Amino acid sequence: MNMTIRDVTPVDTEAILEIYAPFITDTCISFETEVPTIAEFTERMESLIKNYPYLVCEADNKIVGYAYGSKHRERAAYKYSADVSVYVAPEYQRQGIGSMLYTRLLELLRQQGIYTVYAGITLPNDKSVGLHKSFGFKEVGIYHNVGYKFGKWLGVLWMEKPLRDYDELANNPAVKEISNLSQFIVEKEPSKSTIKQFVSVIREYAGEHFTDNFADDMAIDAQYQRMCYLKSGDEFISGIMFTCLDGFPHITAMATKRECQNKGYGKKLMEHFVEYVSQLGFHDIELYAWSEKTKPICVSTQAFYKSVGFVVTQEHMGLWGQDMITVKMKKSWGRRVSLP
Ligand SMILES: CC(C)(COP(=O)(O)OP(=O)(O)OC[C@H]1O[C@@H](n2cnc3c(N)ncnc32)[C@H](O)[C@@H]1OP(=O)(O)O)[C@@H](O)C(=O)NCCC(=O)NCCS
Repeated sequence: MNMTIRDVTPVDTEAILEIYAPFITDTCISFETEVPTIAEFTERMESLIKNYPYLVCEADNKIVGYAYGSKHRERAAYKYSADVSVYVAPEYQRQGIGSMLYTRLLELLRQQGIYTVYAGITLPNDKSVGLHKSFGFKEVGIYHNVGYKFGKWLGVLWMEKPLRDYDELANNPAVKEISNLSQFIVEKEPSKSTIKQFVSVIREYAGEHFTDNFADDMAIDAQYQRMCYLKSGDEFISGIMFTCLDGFPHITAMATKRECQNKGYGKKLMEHFVEYVSQLGFHDIELYAWSEKTKPICVSTQAFYKSVGFVVTQEHMGLWGQDMITVKMKKSWGRRVSLP
């Protein structure tokens, strides 16, 4: 059987609901009691894919299973955790489809910066417990009698699985300091003072690595572009200049004040930026950069972009000057993350 895992699209909702509905009407696996309408179900899916991966498995030219991530709980500090769900049509179970969906789903959630995933399983459900155990999920505990359906009290077993190294976040004092102190600001029409501050940060590098008028050109461009930045009190820390090109948010420049570098500010700014453009409904960000093969400064620039999830999608020769290699880089998330 030829099986493909891909991102969901809105036209898939009917087929997904066909798989899901019997779990509502005939089992306690789902705690829903009424089958949602297609419109409602589409709305749910569209809201989920703004922030989480949602995958389907196609086999025999139809959808036979699906899996998605969702918010664990509402409050802000839960944002590094997510819930996961998976459903496979009964006649396609035990053929590795649940595993294929989870393998890809967990990897995407990890890439998106999720540290722990949780699954709530109505008991009994040996299949689901088996699948989660096979992925290394550990039991957290049971919510006894937390649900009531079909005249029965139901317990839910919660299982958890870490996806990332917790120390990476917890041991980074800059991250804590940043979240307390700094403010994320977006300006659609950047003020003169913002442009001035950003350009003065750019100037810190420009003299060393680029032509003299590099920063001046940037100041002109900035008037027609948007800016977002981190600020602590009156201090400008790190900024991104961006625009929309070919339908994608496109970063034209990013810079962190020299004395604030290597403290996690750039990463934090990028996180805010991704959240901001996600809320606008985008799932990708693009940028052009000098290739690391061309300029020494670009080794660290590219390493930074790679560390926040950008990948090189194209190399160009001569776009910004003879013998100069530039790269197009892209970061994608949500439904548009493409399969390897
Ligand atoms: C749970 C479910 C998604 C598993 O999907 P699947 O495609 O059948 O799973 P796979 O074939 O990839 O199985 C992967 C592993 O899960 C475990 N597993 C799957 N079915 C099992 C079963 N009937 N009993 C025990 N373990 C089972 C096994 O460890 C299996 O590996 P193995 O086949 O090498 O032994 C599927 O049974 C299903 O859709 N169930 C109904 C909906 C549901 O319960 N969803 C979860 C809600 S919490």
